[in-house]
Amino acid sequence: MDSQGNLTELLSEQPSNEFIGRSVLEAMQYNDVKRYIVPVTENLDLLPATNFLATLPRWIYTGKTYEGESLPFKGNPSLVLDQTLSLVRSQYDFIVIDTPPALSEQTTNALCASNYVVVLFESSNWCYSALPNFMDSIESAKEYGKHNTKVLGILRTLSDKRRNDSKAFNDLIEEDYPNEVFKTIITRKASIGRVALYGFTENGELRQVLQQYRNFYEELMHRVKN
Ligand SMILES: Nc1ncnc2c1ncn2[C@@H]1O[C@H](COP(=O)(O)OP(=O)(O)OP(=O)(O)O)[C@@H](O)[C@H]1O
Ligand SMILES: [Mg+2]
Repeated sequence: MDSQGNLTELLSEQPSNEFIGRSVLEAMQYNDVKRYIVPVTENLDLLPATNFLATLPRWIYTGKTYEGESLPFKGNPSLVLDQTLSLVRSQYDFIVIDTPPALSEQTTNALCASNYVVVLFESSNWCYSALPNFMDSIESAKEYGKHNTKVLGILRTLSDKRRNDSKAFNDLIEEDYPNEVFKTIITRKASIGRVALYGFTENGELRQVLQQYRNFYEELMHRVKN
Protein backbone atom coordinates (compact mmCIF):
# COMPACT_ATOMS: atom_id res chain seq x y z
CA MET A 1 0.00 0.00 0.00
CA ASP A 2 3.03 2.28 -0.33
CA SER A 3 2.91 4.14 -3.61
CA GLN A 4 6.71 4.37 -3.62
CA GLY A 5 6.60 0.74 -4.80
CA ASN A 6 9.98 -0.17 -3.27
CA LEU A 7 8.85 -3.58 -2.04
CA THR A 8 7.31 -4.28 -5.45
CA GLU A 9 10.66 -3.54 -7.12
CA LEU A 10 12.60 -5.59 -4.59
CA LEU A 11 10.41 -8.68 -4.87
CA SER A 12 9.59 -8.56 -8.60
CA GLU A 13 13.08 -7.39 -9.68
CA GLN A 14 11.36 -5.02 -12.11
CA PRO A 15 10.69 -1.27 -12.03
CA SER A 16 7.33 -0.62 -10.35
CA ASN A 17 6.24 1.30 -13.49
CA GLU A 18 6.02 -2.11 -15.20
CA PHE A 19 2.86 -2.68 -13.17
CA ILE A 20 0.99 0.49 -14.09
CA GLY A 21 -2.58 -0.56 -14.88
CA ARG A 22 -2.03 -3.98 -13.26
CA SER A 23 -1.60 -3.18 -9.57
CA VAL A 24 -3.37 -3.20 -6.22
CA LEU A 25 -5.03 0.08 -7.26
CA GLU A 26 -6.85 -1.59 -10.15
CA ALA A 27 -7.59 -4.61 -7.95
CA MET A 28 -9.45 -2.23 -5.60
CA GLN A 29 -11.09 -0.20 -8.37
CA TYR A 30 -12.42 -3.23 -10.26
CA ASN A 31 -12.87 -5.40 -7.16
CA ASP A 32 -10.99 -8.24 -8.83
CA VAL A 33 -7.78 -9.41 -7.26
CA LYS A 34 -6.71 -12.66 -8.92
CA ARG A 35 -5.70 -11.20 -12.26
CA TYR A 36 -3.37 -8.70 -10.57
CA ILE A 37 -1.42 -11.19 -8.44
CA VAL A 38 2.20 -11.74 -9.47
CA PRO A 39 3.80 -15.03 -8.34
CA VAL A 40 7.28 -14.40 -6.88
CA THR A 41 8.27 -17.83 -5.56
CA GLU A 42 6.45 -21.10 -5.01
CA ASN A 43 5.02 -19.85 -1.71
CA LEU A 44 5.01 -16.07 -2.15
CA ASP A 45 2.69 -13.93 -4.28
CA LEU A 46 2.79 -10.17 -4.73
CA LEU A 47 0.04 -7.63 -5.34
CA PRO A 48 2.16 -4.80 -6.80
CA ALA A 49 2.06 -1.08 -6.05
CA THR A 50 2.93 1.80 -8.38
CA ASN A 51 3.15 5.59 -7.98
CA PHE A 52 -0.47 5.83 -9.13
CA LEU A 53 -1.59 4.26 -5.86
CA ALA A 54 -1.25 7.83 -4.54
CA THR A 55 -4.42 8.64 -6.55
CA LEU A 56 -6.54 6.29 -4.41
CA PRO A 57 -8.14 9.14 -2.39
CA ARG A 58 -8.98 11.06 -5.59
CA TRP A 59 -10.83 8.04 -6.96
CA ILE A 60 -12.64 7.42 -3.66
CA TYR A 61 -13.81 11.03 -3.27
CA THR A 62 -14.45 12.04 -6.91
CA GLY A 63 -15.22 8.72 -8.63
CA LYS A 64 -12.60 9.47 -11.28
CA THR A 65 -9.63 7.18 -12.00
CA TYR A 66 -6.18 8.67 -12.71
CA GLU A 67 -6.97 8.28 -16.40
CA GLY A 68 -10.06 10.47 -15.98
CA GLU A 69 -12.41 7.54 -16.44
CA SER A 70 -15.64 7.74 -14.46
CA LEU A 71 -15.86 4.86 -11.98
CA PRO A 72 -18.18 5.83 -9.12
CA PHE A 73 -16.99 4.67 -5.72
CA LYS A 74 -19.47 2.94 -3.43
CA GLY A 75 -18.94 1.80 0.12
CA ASN A 76 -16.73 2.70 3.05
CA PRO A 77 -13.53 4.61 2.08
CA SER A 78 -11.51 2.73 4.72
CA LEU A 79 -12.65 -0.77 3.76
CA VAL A 80 -11.78 -0.90 0.06
CA LEU A 81 -8.68 -3.02 0.46
CA ASP A 82 -10.43 -5.28 2.95
CA GLN A 83 -13.23 -5.92 0.48
CA THR A 84 -10.73 -6.68 -2.29
CA LEU A 85 -8.62 -9.03 -0.17
CA SER A 86 -11.70 -10.87 1.03
CA LEU A 87 -11.78 -12.46 -2.45
CA VAL A 88 -8.53 -14.35 -1.74
CA ARG A 89 -8.11 -14.35 2.03
CA SER A 90 -8.89 -18.03 2.47
CA GLN A 91 -6.19 -19.03 -0.01
CA TYR A 92 -3.27 -17.66 2.02
CA ASP A 93 -1.74 -18.47 5.40
CA PHE A 94 -0.58 -14.86 5.74
CA ILE A 95 -1.18 -11.64 3.88
CA VAL A 96 1.45 -9.05 4.76
CA ILE A 97 0.61 -5.43 3.96
CA ASP A 98 3.35 -2.81 3.69
CA THR A 99 2.20 0.65 4.77
CA PRO A 100 3.32 4.09 3.62
CA PRO A 101 5.20 6.40 6.00
CA ALA A 102 2.27 8.78 6.63
CA LEU A 103 -1.32 8.34 7.85
CA SER A 104 -3.41 8.37 4.67
CA GLU A 105 -6.23 6.45 3.00
CA GLN A 106 -3.69 3.79 2.07
CA THR A 107 -2.74 3.39 5.73
CA THR A 108 -6.28 3.30 7.12
CA ASN A 109 -7.21 0.74 4.45
CA ALA A 110 -4.20 -1.38 5.40
CA LEU A 111 -5.03 -1.20 9.11
CA CYS A 112 -8.72 -1.97 8.61
CA ALA A 113 -7.85 -5.03 6.49
CA SER A 114 -5.55 -6.44 9.19
CA ASN A 115 -5.93 -8.72 12.19
CA TYR A 116 -2.52 -7.71 13.53
CA VAL A 117 -0.22 -4.74 13.22
CA VAL A 118 3.55 -4.73 13.71
CA VAL A 119 4.50 -1.19 14.62
CA LEU A 120 7.99 -0.20 13.50
CA PHE A 121 9.84 2.12 15.81
CA GLU A 122 12.99 3.87 14.63
CA SER A 123 14.80 5.29 17.59
CA SER A 124 14.30 9.01 17.07
CA ASN A 125 12.27 11.72 18.71
CA TRP A 126 9.96 12.09 15.69
CA CYS A 127 9.08 8.46 15.72
CA TYR A 128 8.57 8.59 19.48
CA SER A 129 6.15 11.51 19.32
CA ALA A 130 4.26 9.96 16.36
CA LEU A 131 3.65 6.67 18.14
CA PRO A 132 0.58 7.60 20.27
CA ASN A 133 -1.24 8.87 17.15
CA PHE A 134 -0.45 5.69 15.29
CA MET A 135 -1.70 3.60 18.21
CA ASP A 136 -4.94 5.64 18.12
CA SER A 137 -5.31 4.88 14.41
CA ILE A 138 -5.06 1.18 15.19
CA GLU A 139 -7.80 1.61 17.82
CA SER A 140 -9.99 3.32 15.19
CA ALA A 141 -9.33 0.48 12.76
CA LYS A 142 -10.45 -1.95 15.44
CA GLU A 143 -13.67 0.03 15.82
CA TYR A 144 -14.47 0.60 12.13
CA GLY A 145 -12.93 -2.50 10.55
CA LYS A 146 -14.16 -6.07 10.61
CA HIS A 147 -11.06 -7.82 11.92
CA ASN A 148 -10.71 -6.62 15.50
CA THR A 149 -7.35 -5.06 14.51
CA LYS A 150 -4.77 -5.45 17.28
CA VAL A 151 -1.18 -4.37 17.89
CA LEU A 152 0.89 -7.54 17.72
CA GLY A 153 3.98 -5.70 18.89
CA ILE A 154 6.41 -2.85 18.49
CA LEU A 155 9.63 -3.63 16.64
CA ARG A 156 12.54 -1.37 17.47
CA THR A 157 14.60 -0.99 14.35
CA LEU A 158 17.53 0.87 12.72
CA SER A 159 19.05 1.11 16.15
CA ASP A 160 22.61 2.41 16.17
CA LYS A 161 24.86 0.55 18.62
CA ARG A 162 27.32 3.43 18.78
CA ARG A 163 24.75 6.06 19.67
CA ASN A 164 23.52 6.67 23.19
CA ASP A 165 20.32 8.35 22.03
CA SER A 166 19.27 5.14 20.25
CA LYS A 167 19.54 3.28 23.53
CA ALA A 168 17.69 6.03 25.40
CA PHE A 169 14.74 5.87 22.99
CA ASN A 170 14.72 2.08 22.97
CA ASP A 171 14.56 2.06 26.78
CA LEU A 172 11.88 4.74 26.85
CA ILE A 173 9.64 2.80 24.50
CA GLU A 174 10.05 -0.31 26.62
CA GLU A 175 8.96 1.65 29.70
CA ASP A 176 5.92 3.06 27.87
CA TYR A 177 4.90 -0.19 26.16
CA PRO A 178 6.37 -3.05 28.23
CA ASN A 179 3.94 -5.67 26.91
CA GLU A 180 4.11 -4.60 23.28
CA VAL A 181 7.83 -4.32 22.53
CA PHE A 182 9.53 -7.29 20.92
CA LYS A 183 12.75 -8.28 22.69
CA THR A 184 14.59 -8.35 19.38
CA ILE A 185 16.03 -4.98 18.37
CA ILE A 186 17.11 -4.66 14.74
CA THR A 187 20.43 -2.79 14.63
CA ARG A 188 21.61 -0.78 11.65
CA LYS A 189 23.80 -2.86 9.36
CA ALA A 190 25.34 -2.06 6.00
CA SER A 191 24.50 -5.55 4.69
CA ILE A 192 20.79 -4.94 5.35
CA GLY A 193 20.96 -1.56 3.63
CA ARG A 194 22.52 -3.30 0.61
CA VAL A 195 19.52 -5.62 0.12
CA ALA A 196 18.03 -2.75 -1.87
CA LEU A 197 20.99 -3.13 -4.27
CA TYR A 198 21.54 -6.89 -4.36
CA GLY A 199 18.01 -8.21 -3.75
CA PHE A 200 17.22 -11.65 -2.36
CA THR A 201 18.01 -14.12 -5.13
CA GLU A 202 21.75 -13.68 -5.73
CA ASN A 203 22.80 -12.02 -2.52
CA GLY A 204 25.95 -13.55 -1.03
CA GLU A 205 25.42 -11.90 2.35
CA LEU A 206 21.77 -12.92 2.79
CA ARG A 207 22.51 -15.25 5.69
CA GLN A 208 24.04 -12.36 7.62
CA VAL A 209 21.14 -10.06 6.67
CA LEU A 210 18.52 -12.49 7.93
CA GLN A 211 20.23 -13.26 11.24
CA GLN A 212 18.53 -10.53 13.27
CA TYR A 213 15.21 -11.06 11.52
CA ARG A 214 15.13 -14.77 12.47
CA ASN A 215 14.86 -13.82 16.13
CA PHE A 216 12.11 -11.36 15.33
CA TYR A 217 10.31 -13.99 13.25
CA GLU A 218 10.40 -16.46 16.16
CA GLU A 219 8.87 -13.89 18.51
CA LEU A 220 6.31 -12.84 15.91
CA MET A 221 5.12 -16.38 15.23
CA HIS A 222 4.99 -17.13 18.94
CA ARG A 223 2.62 -14.17 19.45
CA VAL A 224 0.50 -15.07 16.42
CA LYS A 225 0.06 -18.62 17.71
CA ASN A 226 -0.89 -17.39 21.16
N1 LIG B 1 20.83 -0.49 7.10
C1 LIG B 1 19.85 -1.12 7.74
N2 LIG B 1 20.13 -1.82 8.87
C2 LIG B 1 19.14 -2.47 9.54
N3 LIG B 1 17.86 -2.49 9.16
C3 LIG B 1 17.52 -1.82 8.05
C4 LIG B 1 18.49 -1.10 7.28
N4 LIG B 1 17.85 -0.53 6.23
C5 LIG B 1 16.55 -0.88 6.35
N5 LIG B 1 16.36 -1.65 7.44
C6 LIG B 1 15.10 -2.24 7.90
O1 LIG B 1 14.18 -2.29 6.86
C7 LIG B 1 13.02 -1.53 7.18
C8 LIG B 1 12.52 -0.86 5.94
O2 LIG B 1 13.50 0.02 5.47
P1 LIG B 1 13.16 1.15 4.44
O3 LIG B 1 14.44 1.85 4.14
O4 LIG B 1 12.36 0.59 3.33
O5 LIG B 1 12.32 2.13 5.36
P2 LIG B 1 10.80 2.31 5.65
O6 LIG B 1 10.72 2.39 7.14
O7 LIG B 1 9.96 1.28 4.99
O8 LIG B 1 10.62 3.71 5.01
P3 LIG B 1 9.33 4.33 4.35
O9 LIG B 1 8.53 4.75 5.53
O10 LIG B 1 9.85 5.45 3.53
O11 LIG B 1 8.66 3.26 3.55
C9 LIG B 1 13.47 -0.58 8.29
O12 LIG B 1 12.45 -0.18 9.15
C10 LIG B 1 14.46 -1.46 9.00
O13 LIG B 1 13.79 -2.37 9.85
MG1 LIG C 1 8.42 1.33 3.71
